[in-house]
Amino acid sequence: MLQCCSCDAVYTNDDRYVSMLDRREQFVHPSEWNRKEAEIRDYSEISHSLALSGIGRFATFLNYGYVPRGNEQHAVIEPDDAWNRNSVKLLLETVGRTAIRERQVIDIGCGRGGNIAALSKYFKPLSIVGLDICPANIAYCNAKSRGGESLYLVGDAENIPFADESFDVVLNIESAHAYPNRSRFYEEVYRIMRVGGVFLYTELMLGDQVAQNIRLLEEAGLSVIRNQDVTSNVLLSCDESAKQRTGTQGIASNAKASTNIGDINEFIALPGSKKYEEMKAGTRQYRMMNLVKR
Ligand SMILES: C[S@@+](CC[C@H](N)C(=O)[O-])C[C@H]1O[C@@H](n2cnc3c(N)ncnc32)[C@H](O)[C@@H]1O
Repeated sequence: MLQCCSCDAVYTNDDRYVSMLDRREQFVHPSEWNRKEAEIRDYSEISHSLALSGIGRFATFLNYGYVPRGNEQHAVIEPDDAWNRNSVKLLLETVGRTAIRERQVIDIGCGRGGNIAALSKYFKPLSIVGLDICPANIAYCNAKSRGGESLYLVGDAENIPFADESFDVVLNIESAHAYPNRSRFYEEVYRIMRVGGVFLYTELMLGDQVAQNIRLLEEAGLSVIRNQDVTSNVLLSCDESAKQRTGTQGIASNAKASTNIGDINEFIALPGSKKYEEMKAGTRQYRMMNLVKR
């Protein structure tokens, strides 16, 4: 156990990860903490079942992926990856023309580190921190990482354990839907960004939440420079993954038998699931946004 001598926060650690999760939160915001604990439980379960499935070492992404379909593309690089190609494409589209080289990056809700590995491969940033609330994910990233410029920590997106103005680029892919206090997350992103920094953000949100989230982002001080609806690209990826049993969906269906997180088809938005059908009907939209701190 570690205790911060200036604020008294207590951190629990083991030899597989360093945790910067301030557990006093459970007394300050008990219902929000319960939601975060449920998130930790679900992703621990997924991590465990992926390990049992035998393909855990290839399952480095936990997102829906992106397939081009003739609409406007922003990526300046085409992925050359055979495995997890749609997820790498999602990352490259999210990055668009943003400069990453020699910049300090944090990936919040980094999951199993796939985005960090791809950022290192394609852009050579100066350093990358991966932050995730689930210790099993961070333990996995640490076991897979070969050191270098990346550092992985357990921590909360709503209480980011870094000083003001620590990063040039903040990445957040398919994670913010799980945060109980969205304003707090956006304020934290603004706080840790340097002036001129970029926030690269994707989320599957209800159609009627888009305007409200933009308002909260702007209230936090961030300016939207790109806001794209890429739902049709994500649906194509869901279709493709379901057919090929590759990518996150194929991997997760391999892990299905030993998973207790409820309806796995719903969790990963397989065709026929409520989430998939809502995307098709337009009531849920997959938004890809770039924002800056001026
Ligand atoms: C759908 S996965 C996406 C992972 C990764 N970004 C990717 O694209 O593969 C969502 C991730 O967000 C993490 N997460 C959920 N709530 C969080 C929080 N409050 N703070 C940090 N990470 C959180 C989960 O543990 C999970 O790894």
